[in-house]
Amino acid sequence: MKILLDTANLEKIREYVDSFPIVGVTTNPTILTREGGSDPVDTLIRIRQVLGKDRELHVQLTETTYKKMIEEAYIITRILGDNTYIKVPVSDVGLKVTKKLTEDGINVTQTAILTATQAMLAAEAGAKYVAPYVSRLDNIMGDGISTIADISEIFVNGGYETKILAASFKTAKQVLDTALAGAETATVSVDIFKKLYEHPITSSSIDGFTNDWTNTYGDTLLELFKKVNPNSHFGY
Ligand code: G3P
Repeated sequence: MKILLDTANLEKIREYVDSFPIVGVTTNPTILTREGGSDPVDTLIRIRQVLGKDRELHVQLTETTYKKMIEEAYIITRILGDNTYIKVPVSDVGLKVTKKLTEDGINVTQTAILTATQAMLAAEAGAKYVAPYVSRLDNIMGDGISTIADISEIFVNGGYETKILAASFKTAKQVLDTALAGAETATVSVDIFKKLYEHPITSSSIDGFTNDWTNTYGDTLLELFKKVNPNSHFGY
């Protein structure tokens, strides 16, 4: 499952995207008000510069009427370039906007998905991604993971090319279950991302290897190998 970072924190984006297998960044209006500083357009342009042109940048519309949403999507795409995805909240106007933008060749991520039928209609309207909210569903006694499994099945049955971009995670286990339920992509906070690879036994194992080695040999293999003449040991 591919991973994006759900953040507008430029420092974190810079730190993580070059070092880890991260295919892009997602933002939403709330994230930008929290982390986007006083000039959200400048922040988005800087995020695009950090990401380069090949990684995905998902930006949510702030207009709420059809014509303005289309206009807003066009200008965002024009400025932020290829691999920009316009996040359109699912609703009557949202589905109409998705259909129109898709016909015009603009990538749409239908967001704020809470039901499988919303996802199905978004796929019919041509969305490239649907973004189901796992924790927000779990928090109202829904079942985020089984909703993702339902969406996955609907997409297979319907032969849709639309992918699932699961969002709204509070635990690493939700991310694991999302991958097992058939999502191709998930967007996570930096904190959740770390939890996907950190493990206390892994850390203590690494510490054990380092201590055993250092206590016995002192120098690392790098230092020891540097002392070897590369031409003196093998006849081939
Ligand atoms: O980008 C939308 C989604 O990630 C929202 O997450 O944590 O606000 O429910 P959250």
